[in-house]
Amino acid sequence: MEEQKATNVVWHELSVSQADREKLRGHKGVTLWFTGLSASGKSTLANAAASALHQRGVGTFVLDGDNIRQGLNKNLGFSPEDRVENIRRIGEVAKLFSTAGIVNLTAFISPYEADRNTARDQQPETFLLVYCKADIEVCESRDPKGMYKKARAGQIKDFTGVNAPYEEPSRPDLVVDTGKKTLEACVAEVISLVERRGFVKAAK
Ligand SMILES: Nc1ncnc2c1ncn2[C@@H]1O[C@H](COP(=O)(O)OP(=O)(O)OP(=O)(O)O)[C@@H](O)[C@H]1O
Ligand SMILES: [Mg+2]
Repeated sequence: MEEQKATNVVWHELSVSQADREKLRGHKGVTLWFTGLSASGKSTLANAAASALHQRGVGTFVLDGDNIRQGLNKNLGFSPEDRVENIRRIGEVAKLFSTAGIVNLTAFISPYEADRNTARDQQPETFLLVYCKADIEVCESRDPKGMYKKARAGQIKDFTGVNAPYEEPSRPDLVVDTGKKTLEACVAEVISLVERRGFVKAAK
């Protein structure tokens, strides 16, 4: 991680604690970090799971790759240094949401194990890695944004799965077969994970 530039900075304790906030909301904050190839279903699944939880009164927020690159990270590109900084910042924002007691769901390809580990290390107790597993052939046949077509035509360099690597997670908390299962079945698996791990109470 980059060294801290500012000196004479003192942490100010917050008057409302994380436990207070969680008591108010009736559930805990956690980051569900979705990783997988483009078109594997990260955004679709994260949003569907957020909607299902929201309907149960759970506070949620989805952090999505392209949206973040238009705002917080608009000064970052796709160089190796910028990719690292991109994930570091997203990880810090996700951690803030967890501390605020929100179930936050991040949808970034995040192809490198080292970067995913950085995000986990930022909040080890409140981080769950969800691997959206779908074959490249399935993803390419979906191609909802036409990205694979562009990448195959040589219009995008460093496109994950085509001309840049995707490192499969070595220790995901959940593997969801988004290539074969229905969206509803995948949502149920994600919800079951947050219930099992005690972040959200099971539905009555
Ligand atoms: N079980 C499933 N889970 C999620 N998406 C599915 C599933 N089955 C089919 N799909 C379809 O797959 C596509 C996934 O696209 P989506 O934009 O969610 O992918 P993504 O992983 O966010 O890609 P990117 O990294 O490019 O943002 C959608 O068209 C969605 O309807
Ligand atoms: Mg997406």
